[in-house]
Amino acid sequence: MRKKVLWALGLVTLALVLVSCAPNATQSTLKPEGPYAQQIQTLFVPVFWIAVAVFVLVEGGIVFISLRWRHRKGRDRTPPQTHGNTRLEIGWTIAPALVLAVVMVPTIATIWSLAKAPPSNALNVTVEGHQWWWGFSYTDADMKTTYGADAPITTGDVLVIPTGRTVYLSLESKGGALNGGVAGVNPDFEVIHSFWIPQLAGKQDVVPGRTNHILLQADHAGTYYGQCAEFCGLQHGKMKFRVIALTPSDWDAWVANQKLPGATPTDGLAKQGMDAFIGGSCIACHAVGGTTAAGTAGPDLTHFFADTHSCFAGCDWDTKDEAALRAWLHDPNAVKLGSKMPNYHLTDDEITALVAYLESLK
Ligand code: CUA
Repeated sequence: MRKKVLWALGLVTLALVLVSCAPNATQSTLKPEGPYAQQIQTLFVPVFWIAVAVFVLVEGGIVFISLRWRHRKGRDRTPPQTHGNTRLEIGWTIAPALVLAVVMVPTIATIWSLAKAPPSNALNVTVEGHQWWWGFSYTDADMKTTYGADAPITTGDVLVIPTGRTVYLSLESKGGALNGGVAGVNPDFEVIHSFWIPQLAGKQDVVPGRTNHILLQADHAGTYYGQCAEFCGLQHGKMKFRVIALTPSDWDAWVANQKLPGATPTDGLAKQGMDAFIGGSCIACHAVGGTTAAGTAGPDLTHFFADTHSCFAGCDWDTKDEAALRAWLHDPNAVKLGSKMPNYHLTDDEITALVAYLESLK
């Protein structure tokens, strides 16, 4: 009986270890892709091996002693009882203190280094944590759009950055409700999130009422996957985002395009979709640069269908997946439970027109 229980426990442990493996993990802190993430890795590796040495010594000692002096059949005398051993106790008080003191030196150095003021050429981006999606505003003077007064380039779900340049993020929590919310009726869900892109930086909490900061940089062009790392409500698990790092020339082209207003289709389905969008309820929450749509409760859709904007609605769906987009417009709550986007009971024809409009916003 006891053997069976031990076997079962062993198998459960093995299963738990195995399910944590993924051959193509996109969110591994062990594969840093920029200098800030590398600093964390550089600290992690030696601390990990020190911890391994401590584990092997302590667990090895326990296993050795348990086996070497275990109870044996036919031996019925009680072993000699001892109480206390001053030399041992001083030893195992000082040894861990020394280990911690050694680990503390690089740890504090890394914390200070990561908390340094950003270099003067850093790209400044304000990150807004909503329920449940991330918004990004590029606040530098040279990142203003050509439309609107003082309007910064703004994206939802995807943060686009240039390679090889430090990005200084200012993290703020924003509610998920319309017009800032009304207490007791339509509360503004400003809650704590945690902003995390494992391959580019550590985690940073996003706390209502204050602004936190974090530095990141990507060395290579590519897509990096991020996720909210603190439980923040129903769709916490799908509060994902992506960081798209572009080479400097691709970055310049991206910036130039983002500064332009959204497309204004003049005929066909896309025109119908635009009329429905501007004339309907969409503009209460969404903005499209250059139009009267200027809502801020939902993601900015000015360049919704740009190639860099690869995902939407908390990044659980690909922008180019038209079926997903249709399902989303059909009933947001059916695909993302708790979504603040209401079901407008759109007809198939209305959805077809809206999709055509969204697909024109490149
Ligand atoms: Cu936002 Cu979890």
